[in-house]
Amino acid sequence: MIQWDKQQQTITLTTRESSYQMKVDHLGVLLHTYYGPRLRGGDLSYRICPEDRGFSPNPYDAGKDRTYSLDTQPQEYSSSGLGDFRLPCLEADLADGSHAVDLRYVRHSIADGKYALEGLPAFYGDGITAQTLTVELRDAASGLTVELLYGVLEEYDMITRSVVVKNGGNQPLTLTRVASACLDFPAGEHDLLTLGGAYAREREPVRAALTQGIHTAGSIRGASSHQQNPFLALLNRDTTEDTGFCWAMALVYSGNFQASAELTQFHETRLTLGIHPFHFAWTLQPGEAFTAPEAAMVFSARGLGHMSRLFHRAIRRNLCRGPWKEERRPILINNWEATLFDFTAEKIRSIAQTASQVGIELMVMDDGWFGQRNDDFRGLGDWNVNEEKLPGGLRPLAESIQAMGMKFGLWVEPEMVNEDSDLYRAHPDWALQIPGRPATRGRYQLVLDLTRPEVREYVWKNLRATLRSAPISYVKWDMNRSLTDVWSHSLPAARQGEVYHRYVLGVYEILENLHREFPDLLLEGCSGGGGRFDCGMLYYAPQIWLSDNTDAIDRLKIQYGSSLLYPCAAMGAHVSAVPNGLTHRSVPLHTRAVVAAAGTFGYELDLNELTAVEREEVAQQVAHFRTVWDLVMKGDYYRLTDAFSDTFTAWMHVSEDRSRALVSAVLTERQANPVRALLRLKGLDPHRDYLMNGKVYGGDQLMYAGVPLPFWDEYQAVQYELTAVAP
Ligand code: DGJ
Repeated sequence: MIQWDKQQQTITLTTRESSYQMKVDHLGVLLHTYYGPRLRGGDLSYRICPEDRGFSPNPYDAGKDRTYSLDTQPQEYSSSGLGDFRLPCLEADLADGSHAVDLRYVRHSIADGKYALEGLPAFYGDGITAQTLTVELRDAASGLTVELLYGVLEEYDMITRSVVVKNGGNQPLTLTRVASACLDFPAGEHDLLTLGGAYAREREPVRAALTQGIHTAGSIRGASSHQQNPFLALLNRDTTEDTGFCWAMALVYSGNFQASAELTQFHETRLTLGIHPFHFAWTLQPGEAFTAPEAAMVFSARGLGHMSRLFHRAIRRNLCRGPWKEERRPILINNWEATLFDFTAEKIRSIAQTASQVGIELMVMDDGWFGQRNDDFRGLGDWNVNEEKLPGGLRPLAESIQAMGMKFGLWVEPEMVNEDSDLYRAHPDWALQIPGRPATRGRYQLVLDLTRPEVREYVWKNLRATLRSAPISYVKWDMNRSLTDVWSHSLPAARQGEVYHRYVLGVYEILENLHREFPDLLLEGCSGGGGRFDCGMLYYAPQIWLSDNTDAIDRLKIQYGSSLLYPCAAMGAHVSAVPNGLTHRSVPLHTRAVVAAAGTFGYELDLNELTAVEREEVAQQVAHFRTVWDLVMKGDYYRLTDAFSDTFTAWMHVSEDRSRALVSAVLTERQANPVRALLRLKGLDPHRDYLMNGKVYGGDQLMYAGVPLPFWDEYQAVQYELTAVAP
């Protein structure tokens, strides 16, 4: 619900459990007056206490009022150069060389439904109550206007934001920073939560007290990155998994980003989130506009767990698209860890044949099927089938797999080129490369310049031709290096600061083509595992390979950290062989399946190398996942322990109507003479009884009194299914 109070000049956005308010003040500055638990109403600007603060200057039109300063007013969208010394949202180089922007309210409008952003991913409003607020601000001196867009998705306590900056003047100007969202808080005493990590250790939660100064997380790698994720949350100091306030923001974007939190001199807090200003300079001719990616905000008064569940539902239902978003995805087997580049059609068939016998439904052929791709030094860019490996091309292989009763899927890495490829030999200038400098390699490959229409055309034509050449139901879209040497032949020197963002727009354009022309295709995102695991990609691909680290024990942490924002339905998760290729750890097959079943569930090994008894166990795992998939993919997710500090990791999936649940736990650290673990479940109906492990317990007993876990061996897993019994 969006309400305009003309008398108070307030605009209030209300979701199921939160309120958000802004106010046009007497100078036309758009103040931010409140974000938090839902309130009955009123003008919240009483919380702003103007003071005469030394060295906080006063706008000219404040007259003699020394208590009014942009440096101390909480703002909806902070400008720069005119007395607000905190984090700016907008910075521009104007035609006269100045860079001051003074944003004042012009008008606003309220509409039913949720806005969309052309060429950019965004949450949509189908099937739920959604409204859009547009507020126009203007800098009178330059004519620059800013449209602040707000989407209210009531059911998820979500408010989305975007910004359209227009050059309404008669001179060109260059934007050097455009944040997608800003949040001002009148007080401090908060913790900041971000998601850090590394390759094979993606999304490790980092929580620390916010101290005076600016704290940022971000990526300048051209992708959202393994190292930081486009997400931040401000928490009360006493916020826990199940209690306390969380204000969280995620960027619906897959490129460079910056998430910042500033604790000011007066212990106010400001959060900003948007495209990273590193090497960002976007020129607008008179009349032109720039649209910033969307930021999605969620407020939870019930701790981190509830925050996550709000994001999960919204992402699953109103960000992911296509027929697979809440459908059971085929249980797949991928040959990468089994064969790397060393395979033939016969080998793929033999993996598929055995997989089909245990009920696996999709055979995915990974890297190595095209050009001279027998190692990672060559071949990227040449999307012609390697007929030495696959005689007759993809079709005979795909059809023979279909004849086994399975679907066929394919790996691609469309954004890249190897120097040792026909494509590079023909078009060396199609790779991002700075004239006069040797190119920086990453995994021996260079990045194609997707800012150029002819390069996008080449990539799209080849991809389309490949997908039409055989019955292909699934694609894994990989991206195996960060961007460097960011320079494009297609733009003049003054516009090279547009390349990073234009690259991402180019990727999105091809992904959108794919979505439109192959609507039934199941797309899995990937970037050396989870290097581009973000809300932007989830708009095009309902699942993303979570990490190249398939060690089940490490995965517990990666899945735990990722689950702060992302739903299980988005997490590509496979059972792989032991000892694990990266960690050399051996984990029981049962445990590997329990862990992979907290994601999309599949296999990444050659089942022919398992014993007959193990293959039978795999068949049972596959059959079992078919009976619980809806809990994992559509249910609510509860973290029961902390994967980083507890000696065992436990979690639950609960159906929306709370009639069924799946509880999983893995012992990660064995103790001598162990302490007896007692597990308190979550998310059940305290007034109903549940059948668990052959016994009936009250939901209240299971949640408040807990259940003892067995003494168990290190890396052993237990899993319980719960069903509500009729009263
Ligand atoms: C990185 C991916 O994360 C792996 O799963 C695999 O597809 C390789 N690339 C192939 O090169």
